[in-house]
This record gives sequence, structure tokens and C-alpha cells, in this order.
Amino acid sequence: TSQLIPQSTQSSGISVVARIRPFLPHEKQHPYPIIFKSENNVVTNDPQNKLLTSSHPFDSVFGPDSQNVDIFQPLIPNLHNVLCGLPLLQINYGVTSSGKTYTLFGNQDQPGLLQQSASYLMQQLPQARFFVSAVQIYLNQVSDLLNNNFQLKCLATQQDPLPKRVLKEFTSIQQLQKILAQAQGQRETAQTMNNSASSRSHCLIYYFIQLNNEQNQICFVDLAGSEPFQTNSSKQLQQESSFIRTSLLMLDKSIKDLKNLSTMNQNSVSFRSSLLTMCLRPFLQPQQKENRFQLPGSISLILNLHCVLDQFYSNKETLNLGLLTKEIKNYAKTPSRLGQLGQSCQNYVAKSTLQSQQSSLVESLQDESELVEQFEMLTKQLFQLQAEAEEEMIEMRREVVKEMAELMEIELEAQRTEFEAELDEKDRQIMELKRRLGEM
Ligand SMILES: Nc1ncnc2c1ncn2[C@@H]1O[C@H](COP(=O)(O)OP(=O)(O)OP(=O)(O)O)[C@@H](O)[C@H]1O
Ligand SMILES: [Mg+2]
Repeated sequence: TSQLIPQSTQSSGISVVARIRPFLPHEKQHPYPIIFKSENNVVTNDPQNKLLTSSHPFDSVFGPDSQNVDIFQPLIPNLHNVLCGLPLLQINYGVTSSGKTYTLFGNQDQPGLLQQSASYLMQQLPQARFFVSAVQIYLNQVSDLLNNNFQLKCLATQQDPLPKRVLKEFTSIQQLQKILAQAQGQRETAQTMNNSASSRSHCLIYYFIQLNNEQNQICFVDLAGSEPFQTNSSKQLQQESSFIRTSLLMLDKSIKDLKNLSTMNQNSVSFRSSLLTMCLRPFLQPQQKENRFQLPGSISLILNLHCVLDQFYSNKETLNLGLLTKEIKNYAKTPSRLGQLGQSCQNYVAKSTLQSQQSSLVESLQDESELVEQFEMLTKQLFQLQAEAEEEMIEMRREVVKEMAELMEIELEAQRTEFEAELDEKDRQIMELKRRLGEM
């Protein structure tokens, strides 16, 4: 059955995709483009020195015209990996107002990655059960967005750092949408210089997929808005910004460690440095296997970019982190230790293949029964024709007999006439003899 299992097209299981959002109505454009797409590259032109151009190649790059459905396409191989038992970490990275929340949650017209992924997985595994949980990391606290921001203790473990969070089952996208809206309603947001609804907390949305006794998970991360230090903002905003910046630095450091681990054989990645990395540890903790470094699952990193002039250098940092992530070598193979959905996936694929074979057999049987029906109808018609023909034969025989009888009658009549003529002749001869006798 192995060739029936959907195979990932990314051997590394790490995909890095960039998205440049369009200008918003109030944003001013630079005289020449400073960040733009060229095939699978993001090209930057330094606003202070037009000659300073650099190209950043990624797995896919999407320009300002792209829709949320386009950004979903490169995620499909990662979702196939999920079906085959590899957990997935999907991170939306980028400076404040670059479109992270827009890409993940979307809006009414453009469902985000969350809705699109769920409907894709529900279609692929219709008999599985689906659960969602959502937490936020705000300042130095983790709280449950589906349980009135109940404060959660984050455990320093590789298994489940947040065992007390609430899981909600969903059986339709409408139901999921309601739960996601509830989570968004509980989230910390604020109006900032750059974004009228800036995320002030990191938000982690988990999907759990359960099939029989096996399960797998995805963690979608919408990072909080990181912005340059601003002296004129409120004390609270400054405090939030400082927490956000520190946690993002720690995430960057974990990614750098993973990259060094795979290229320089360094053997430690520190997760305890921030709540964010502690929460992400089940997806990032490397394992040494057959002298090779292996991640627990696959990773999708979306680099959200914009072309606002005064944040050009922050966007450049996003691009550099993307290039670094691309260098991580991941030898994770399906199904992994963590993901147990693999066998079920095989069974599922085998079962649906059997089902389709069964239905084509039923179809061919139906074809056959149609043939039998046709055969029976033709046989009936044939019998009828035969019966009609026999009747005709009998009729014809009758006619022939009648004709023969008529002919015989004519013959008889002729013989009778001949016989009568002979009788007349004999009578005449008798008379003649009598006459002669009288004379004698
Ligand atoms: N691709 C897009 N097309 C149209 N509008 C977009 C797009 N991406 C983002 N926007 C708009 O840009 C603004 C900022 O987007 P969003 O809030 O998603 O950014 P963010 O990266 O989450 O910011 P923060 O880090 O501050 O939370 C929003 O008004 C959003 O509607
Ligand atoms: Mg946001």
C-alpha cells in the first residue's frame, strides 16, 4: 500500500514562503520599489542606496495581488505530511502590520489558512475527529483563549507543555469559525502607530486530529507585532513591545541553533529562555537518529512583508531569518515517533481504494445485469417471432392442404366425368348388344 500514501514533495519538510502585502490606502509609496517579487525571489532595493540590490530565494513568493487561497497552496504538502503522521508547526512571521493575522485568520471574503487547512483535512479524513485549542502568550503569561483567558502553567517538557488547556471538538467549518472568533475576541490587541488592531500577544492555535486511537497535531502561530522602540508610546505599549521583542529574539535564536545543529553538529537548542519557545518545543526539539539530526515534524514558515519605507530594515531582518530557516536540514521521515496517524492513513487509503474497487465492481455488475436484461428481452422477442412464424407456417400449411384438396376435387371431377363418359359408352354398347340379340 506504500505507493498509495500521499507523499510530500518537500524532502526536508521545511517550507519557507514569502508574501508581500499590498499598500494600504494611507501608506506612501517610495519613488522606486524597495521590496518586490521576481519569480521565486524577494528582491530588495535599499531606499538609501538604489544600487544595493539583493535577491532572496524561497520555496514560493507571493506578490501584492495574491489571495489567501494562493498562500494555502504551498501548505498542502505539509498537510499531507500531517495525514501521514508528522506534526506540523506553521509560523506566521513578520514586522507589525505585515499581514500575519490577515493570512492566518482571513476575513469573510478570504478565509485564512486556519479555515482552509481545516476544510482540507476534514475532506481528506472524513471519519476522523477534529479538536481545536487556542492560547495566547501575553507579557510573561500564557492563557487559554477558549476558557476566559484562564492562566495556564507552561511546563518545561517536550511532550505537552500546556496540559490544562481546553479542547473543543468541531464537526463543521461554521462551528470552527465560531470558536476562532471567540478566541480572537479574547485576544490582546491594541491600536499602535502602525496597525489599528495590532496583535499584542502571540497566539497559538492547535488542531488535534483523532482517528481510532491515533492522533496528530498542528500548531499555527500568529506572532505578536514587533515594532521599533518608540519613546512617544504609552508605558504599557512599551512594556508589551519589550516582551514581544525579547521572545522573538529567543525564537530567532532557537532557529539559528537548529540551523547550526544541522550544519555544524552543534548539539544543543535552548528552549527554556522564553515562554514562546517552551510552548513550541514539541515541534522544535531535535532528535539524533542514525547520526542525523531530525525534527519531530515539518515546519512551514510564512514571511509576511510590506513595503513601508521606515520599516525597510525590519523587513530585511524577516528575509534573513527566512534564508536561515531554509538552511535547516530536517531528516524527519513519515511516520515519525510523535505522529501515530500514519498507519491509520495507510488503512484509510487502503480502505478507500477497496471501496472504489468495490463500487467499480458493483458498476460492472450493474453493466452485466443490464446485459442480462437485454439478453432476456431479445430472447423474449425471439420467442414471439418464432411463435408468429410458426402460426404463419400452420396457416400456410392449411392453405396448401386446402389448395391440394381443391386440386384433388378437380381431378376427381375430371375422372368422374371420364368415368361417366365410359359408363355412357358401356350403356350404349349394352344397348347395341341387346338390339342385336333382339334381331337374332
Ligand atoms: N494581503 C492583504 N491584502 C489586503 N490587506 C491586507 C493584507 N494583509 C494585511 N492587510 C491589512 O493590513 C493590516 C495589517 O494586517 P495584520 O493585522 O494582519 O498585520 P499583523 O502582521 O498581524 O500585524 P501585528 O503584528 O501588528 O499584529 C490590516 O488592516 C489588514 O487588513
Ligand atoms: Mg496580528
